Amino acid sequence: MTHHHIALIPGDGIGAEVLPPAQRVVDAVGARHGFACTYTTYDWSCERYAREGAMMPEDGLDLLRDKDAILLGAVGYPGVPDHVSLWGLLIPIRRGFRQYVNVRPIRVFEGVDSPLRTAAPGDVDFVVVRENVEGEYSEIGGRLNRGFAEEMAVQEAVFTRAGVTRVLDYAFDLAARRGGRLTSATKSNGIVHTMPFWDELVAERGADHPRVVWDQEHIDALAAKFVLDPARFDVVVASNLFGDILSDLAAAVAGSIGIAPAANLNPEREFPSMFEPVHGSAPDIAGRGIANPLGAIWSAAMMLDHLGHRAAADEITAAMAAVLAKTDVRTPDLGGDSTTTEFTEKLLELL
Ligand code: NAD
Ligand code: IPM
Ligand code: MN
Repeated sequence: MTHHHIALIPGDGIGAEVLPPAQRVVDAVGARHGFACTYTTYDWSCERYAREGAMMPEDGLDLLRDKDAILLGAVGYPGVPDHVSLWGLLIPIRRGFRQYVNVRPIRVFEGVDSPLRTAAPGDVDFVVVRENVEGEYSEIGGRLNRGFAEEMAVQEAVFTRAGVTRVLDYAFDLAARRGGRLTSATKSNGIVHTMPFWDELVAERGADHPRVVWDQEHIDALAAKFVLDPARFDVVVASNLFGDILSDLAAAVAGSIGIAPAANLNPEREFPSMFEPVHGSAPDIAGRGIANPLGAIWSAAMMLDHLGHRAAADEITAAMAAVLAKTDVRTPDLGGDSTTTEFTEKLLELL
């Protein structure tokens, strides 16, 4: 029996509602696949910030360092400014543990109505690979002259050869293992200085991955193609901000942001990787017990795959597909009237 020590950070809002279902699903498949997880739960959240003045303790990262993986719900809630909560918890984990790849798969499941007639179940199955530690989300910049007519905000976007190359290599390798196609999201009309550099590096890495057919699309046109023809994509690689926006768009195309998962990977495994749904804390539905747990459950499946339990992960995604295709039990975001718990129990039944 293999043991894994998992750090659980439920966080804020529906984060705390979708993590227990993910944990139940992981425990349900563990015994069959020869592993067991022990969990340490951390109450790091906006509530903790209100109580103690910090989202996590100063040695927070040290507490997580020896864990095999981190499963996170969502961070951020009204009452604490987002830049405080996010720079106080989510972003330090991604950066401190060099989780420079953020893998965000999209599928239109049978039984889920995409808002688009162009997105049929089975046809839409792609992955957004998002650069996760630099780019437009750099720490360089600030606000000046607050309150004066000269007030301004400055933000540097830092793209490094090493940082872009490593995420591109991950994306090319993933494309080689999947359908052999890669699309680079770019804005290379020469307006944004960083993007021609990104494009050059894509061409450079593409030359070393001859089996992958790659192309590049301007981000604005690409957004339209996600809507008009989502079935054409296999792997889409994007900078930090572009990848953030594209992954919510893709999740909506697939029927609900509540389904989409994310793996924040440190591919070298020097540090724990972190798994979390793409969605946030959803203050508008928090506390009502109706959040869709599939994003968190699929994220947990990606965690098990990362920990070497591919078959267990596949069982979970198969049960997700089955609950959607074979039953009409589903949460309100998918047009149903089930609660998070009812939906989870039906999925557990089919597992
Ligand atoms: P959000 O993803 O929380 O919500 C957007 C919309 O999607 C809402 O209408 C919400 O009800 C719905 N939704 C989201 N997840 C759902 C689910 N599982 N089931 C059903 N419906 C769901 O985005 P937001 O409103 O922009 O952000 C709210 C807070 O969450 C902010 O503080 C933001 O910074 C934070 N946030 C955190 C993360 C993260 O921790 N990774 C990600 C995104 C947003
Ligand atoms: C996500 C979120 C975060 C991001 C925010 C909350 C900082 O939107 O994980 O997609 O932009 O990375
Ligand atoms: Mn996002």
